[in-house]
Amino acid sequence: MPDHLLPARIIVTCGKRLGPWLEQEIVALGFKPKRTFSTGVELRGTLADCVQLNLKLRCASQVLYSIQEFFVDGPEALYTRIVRFPWEQWIAPDGYFSVTSNVHHPTINNELFVNVRIKDAIADRMRQSCGRRPDSGAELRGLVVHLYWSGDGAELFIDTSGETLAKHGYRKIPGKAPMLEALAAATVYATKWDPSTAFLNPMCGSGTLAIEAALIASNRYPGLFRNNYSFLHILGFDRSIYDAARSALNQSITQSDAQVVASDISADAIMISKANATTAGVAELIQFVQCPFEATPVPENKGVVIFNPEYGERLGDEERLNKTYAEIGDFLKKSMKGYRGYIFTGNMELAKKVGLRASRRTEFFNGTIDCRLLEYELYEGTRRKFNPEPSAPDSQTPFRPPLPDQ
Ligand SMILES: C[S@@+](CC[C@H](N)C(=O)[O-])C[C@H]1O[C@@H](n2cnc3c(N)ncnc32)[C@H](O)[C@@H]1O
Repeated sequence: MPDHLLPARIIVTCGKRLGPWLEQEIVALGFKPKRTFSTGVELRGTLADCVQLNLKLRCASQVLYSIQEFFVDGPEALYTRIVRFPWEQWIAPDGYFSVTSNVHHPTINNELFVNVRIKDAIADRMRQSCGRRPDSGAELRGLVVHLYWSGDGAELFIDTSGETLAKHGYRKIPGKAPMLEALAAATVYATKWDPSTAFLNPMCGSGTLAIEAALIASNRYPGLFRNNYSFLHILGFDRSIYDAARSALNQSITQSDAQVVASDISADAIMISKANATTAGVAELIQFVQCPFEATPVPENKGVVIFNPEYGERLGDEERLNKTYAEIGDFLKKSMKGYRGYIFTGNMELAKKVGLRASRRTEFFNGTIDCRLLEYELYEGTRRKFNPEPSAPDSQTPFRPPLPDQ
């Protein structure tokens, strides 16, 4: 049985460009990151730490716990290394495991081949040591073994998450072009929203931004909506660690009087948003309104207004969307004075139609689409002297996300 208290290298992966937001969450949970890159954060910790990270991180994809590093020059050497590893200490002979990998090596042009060799080596080792082998397959419902192999160096991890953490489990109905939950959470952090002020999300679609804002404001963590993780399938894993962490999530929910408003012109979108918010336990915290965005109720308690309009991927959309983006600009100028406005878009030509100068541009990816979160200061009364910030993501003014734990 592995020692749960043995600290090892942990790599928390995330979607491209979410690294800085993930780092801030990890710091807010009391960990000390060693390195942050565009798609992840490195730290040291135990399997018990992995439990906390899995249950609490909003911007993460997987939490990888390192179990061995080695040199390798090709698939046969890889098999030899893996068959020697004491898998019988990690996987139950009657258990189930899966293999994933991330490989950059000239001898490999198909990661599936690597996964099969690793699976064979684990199965052979288990047969030799236990007289039988566990089942294996592509479904990430049991223990997940992950290999990172780049050049001559390889590292074996237990992917303690299994299914991605980037989906937060409350979205039973996706709606049209929804934002991935981890991206929506990072976007809310990037607005620097203060939960004692209003958060408005016109054009809410399936409600992801408003739901993530309400979850953050009420300190509800993603672990509340999920009950299977790969770490639960580690042989001899002390389940009481998970049970204690899981019940602590209920205790940490706080009363929230944040004013979150979500509106959409589509009745279906509002119906889907309400259903998703109900699953997330935050339906009571969000005011849902079916209306054109111009009719969204605007609370006095001025905070953030954020739009994620269509970007126009289909031919013929352009003319209609030029008009929509110009109308969003007019609405921000006329009706949202005193708020901080944001538009999340993958189309900078359309963004020009807003007719306001962005005071900040934060880079994101939505899937493979290069996107920007554009910030607009919507001054009340006489406009103050304009002082735009540089657009490079590295030069963002550092700030802490509004995590209620702080
Ligand atoms: C790209 S989707 C938003 C996706 C959303 N961020 C999510 O995660 O599900 C854009 C939404 O804008 C809505 N919409 C389009 N035109 C609108 C208008 N004039 N007023 C209000 N909503 C509108 C659509 O119904 C659609 O749900």
